[in-house]
Amino acid sequence: MKPYKKHIFVCTGKSCIAKGSEDVLKRLREKIDEDGITGVKTSKGGCFGVCKETAENADLCPVVAVYPEGIWYERVDAGNISEIVDEHIKKGKVVERLFHYKLEP
Ligand code: FES
Repeated sequence: MKPYKKHIFVCTGKSCIAKGSEDVLKRLREKIDEDGITGVKTSKGGCFGVCKETAENADLCPVVAVYPEGIWYERVDAGNISEIVDEHIKKGKVVERLFHYKLEP
């Protein structure tokens, strides 16, 4: 097996599921297949903790994280997936309008 180039986690904790994260993951996997993208793994992740920071933060769900860049996106819906894949995954450009956080090593 060749190492993956990127790993995308979609939060499937309770708050993100309530805001449609299962549709986000489904659309992400469809888009990767449709575009013939290889070397990208997708996974479900338990609650990333964003929804627990403040009561208002539940509005930031669903959350999606892209590694190795450590970029977290907020308020992602299935309709945003094409933009994230086309801009970030293919071109390496962060989608600023959905940016939430960047992990610092
Ligand atoms: S359920 Fe997704 S951040 Fe908490």
